[in-house]
Amino acid sequence: MNNPLSPDDAAKLYGNRFLTEDAPAGDFPASGMSALDAMRLVAEELALEGDPQRNLATFVTTWMEPEAQRIIAGNLHRNFIDHAEYPISAEVEQRCIRMLADLFHAPGETTGARTQGSSEAIMLGALSLKWKWKQRREAESKPVDKPNLIFGGDVHVVWDKFCRYFDVEPRIVPLQDGKYVIGPEDVEPHVDENTIGVAAVLGTTFTGHADDIVGIDKLLVDLKGERELDVPLHIDGASGAFVWPFLYPDSKWDFRLEQVRSINVSGHKFGLVYPGIGWLVFREKEDLAEDLVFYENYLGKTDATFTLNFSTGASMVLAQYYNFVRYGFEGYAYIMKAMQANARTLAEKLKENGNFELIGEGEEQLPLVAFKLAGEKNYDEFDLSWQLSAERGWMLPAYTMPPNAEEVKVLRALVKQTLSREQIHRLADDIALACETLEKKGGAHSSERKRVKTGTGY
Ligand SMILES: Cc1ncc(COP(=O)(O)O)c(C=O)c1O
Repeated sequence: MNNPLSPDDAAKLYGNRFLTEDAPAGDFPASGMSALDAMRLVAEELALEGDPQRNLATFVTTWMEPEAQRIIAGNLHRNFIDHAEYPISAEVEQRCIRMLADLFHAPGETTGARTQGSSEAIMLGALSLKWKWKQRREAESKPVDKPNLIFGGDVHVVWDKFCRYFDVEPRIVPLQDGKYVIGPEDVEPHVDENTIGVAAVLGTTFTGHADDIVGIDKLLVDLKGERELDVPLHIDGASGAFVWPFLYPDSKWDFRLEQVRSINVSGHKFGLVYPGIGWLVFREKEDLAEDLVFYENYLGKTDATFTLNFSTGASMVLAQYYNFVRYGFEGYAYIMKAMQANARTLAEKLKENGNFELIGEGEEQLPLVAFKLAGEKNYDEFDLSWQLSAERGWMLPAYTMPPNAEEVKVLRALVKQTLSREQIHRLADDIALACETLEKKGGAHSSERKRVKTGTGY
């Protein structure tokens, strides 16, 4: 018999080093490893992450068609900002912006930007509100040191972030038990000459409903006449702007309303593209403050840039365009309606179960089910979230509503394209089983409750 192989040679022949070694995690590795070892190291670790099929928490796309995946994989080398090298990618971005402007009923030619997601789109859109306000004030020789922005407690955290990062006073309308969106009566008391804008949400992160956008728009139109205040409205359509046009085409929330000056939407949510792609679309070119556009020629061609980042991949822009031409209005409408039908089936089953109360049933809503426990129980929503993940691996987030509705605990199930009718039945049965377990054994241990998925906005 030959001499046995050294451990290194044995690993090369039969396995990989990381079957028996810790993963590099601190010092910069002094030497490398084979490509196969590196690939297995990364892949094996990631295999323990959440299973997208059972993730009811995320708004973000977890599945795309194989053809779209080929577009993405084949174009990962393209730097989107390098318009000199990749002019066609830049043209594709412009096509997407024009298509979105059309979908959102822009009155004429407009402008916008591809962003990393809705957060960047919101930062840029809100910065434009601030700059436009500043220009108006300076033209009238009025002070510009106290800008404020009005929004409800139902917004995503990015709006608070914008206010803190860019020094704007947030005027936040608190929620109440049973009232999880805002309307004109909430906004009116906060408006003054220093208001740079109002942000309204189409499809909130918490319950999937919309603020009263028609009502807020009417208030702002009236204020133009009554108090000579021209306050623009920005729509945070991170999720909703890819849902409402297809499910509720007659509902007005977009540029059909006079004061709506800008809209953000996440391509990576109901735009059905993998993360990170978002969009900002202005009503008219004039709504983008010219001072925010930078002109540079580092890359061989003078280009206008309006972004917080510089270099970034073009793949997701191309994937968004793929979806637009692949599905068109009809295809998106089919997918949104399928998700809505399944969400309604889940909602019906939860009602039949008898333990739950649906939140905002029958109202215009994202394809999701927001619900809470009905009546007194020996367990709560956080316990149920824990039990369901322990028994079946479903990630169903539980959270408390923002102030002043913190007493309300909510469970929320996103019903995505990957959740078939059969899985809806299983999920409903699994929820019923988890309730039965909890009824017998009582709530989860405090250490288990700490591990419940509680974040709302993904
Ligand atoms: C209403 C709303 N606005 C903004 C965001 C932030 O979007 P993104 O994750 O695309 O940055 C989210 C994310 O869930 C959201 O739901």
